[in-house]
Amino acid sequence: MTENYIYTITKKESLTNSIYLMDVLAPRVAKNCYPGQFVIVKMDEKGERIPLTICDYDREAGTVSIVFQSLGSSTKLMAEYEEGEAFRDFTGPLGHRSELIDMPREELSKLKILFVAGGVGTAPVYPQVKWMKENGYDVDCVIGARNKDFIILEDRMKKYAKNVYITTDDGSYGFKGNVNDCIKELVFNQGKQYDLVIAIGPMIMMKFVCLLTKELGIKTIVSMNPIMVDGTGMCGACRLTIGNEVKFACVDGPEFDGHLVNFDEAMKRLQMYKSEEGRVILRKREGDTHHSNDCRIHAE
Ligand code: NAD
Ligand code: FES
Repeated sequence: MTENYIYTITKKESLTNSIYLMDVLAPRVAKNCYPGQFVIVKMDEKGERIPLTICDYDREAGTVSIVFQSLGSSTKLMAEYEEGEAFRDFTGPLGHRSELIDMPREELSKLKILFVAGGVGTAPVYPQVKWMKENGYDVDCVIGARNKDFIILEDRMKKYAKNVYITTDDGSYGFKGNVNDCIKELVFNQGKQYDLVIAIGPMIMMKFVCLLTKELGIKTIVSMNPIMVDGTGMCGACRLTIGNEVKFACVDGPEFDGHLVNFDEAMKRLQMYKSEEGRVILRKREGDTHHSNDCRIHAE
């Protein structure tokens, strides 16, 4: 929490008792970022690099909003930062922007799109929904969480999505069930039809949404942010198989065609990557393909 750092927190908001939103002054990131991209935050000289998907940005104010859950030691420390304090690094924008932004407008206008946001994954869904509305497209959005207390950004999402469907695992708010139960309700009981699903949330959620949408024949995009560690292509943490190709979430993604992602391999690998022994095995097994040849370290 050093005074000469420049990435000042201009706003801090508790979305739940463990999930925080912070607006950070980073004018060059704010000017250049798009929905789908991420930043790497380093709190101080010794701090871990934390990749976080951009939740919102204000190009005029020069601020970027990030959302994080205080779970591990780094994010717990981050949660102690207050308005007026500053981070050492705020690197970005990194990764590719959402493919919706580059889609021909005529094609985009024909698509019926459903966003599926799971828990903290609601944060990266929000800027995409907002971008769609601001560019004249109506979309629907499912927000799923364990219970009422874990629903985030509901009011903001309602401002931009045509329909927002809330679902909680325990039924304490909105529909009862997980996001897949809600998708089934919309498609089978309410006669909704979708051409494209964008599902962002925990890995297990994205896996099961993809299994369902594959059956339903709906193309699905997912964000593989959860497997990123250093966000530069160097560490090899986010290596994954897309179809028959080896890709890296931080360099080639974070968004991919969900029907081509090998989720089981990615989740197993993530577990292995957590231990030093596992990392050694992975490095040996994967050789030159352990990390990306296209390392990206952009300074803000
Ligand atoms: P959570 O475990 O509470 O799950 C959120 C919702 O996902 C559930 O309420 C349910 O509706 C759905 N879900 C979970 N498992 C499911 C299953 N097997 N089938 C169908 N639906 C299922 O989520 P959380 O604790 O808020 O999320 C934390 C996770 O989100 C972390 O693992 C983090 O890495 C991830 N995350 C992902 C992104 C991304 O870009 N993909 C961004 C931020 C956070
Ligand atoms: Fe390290 Fe992608 S997060 S290589």
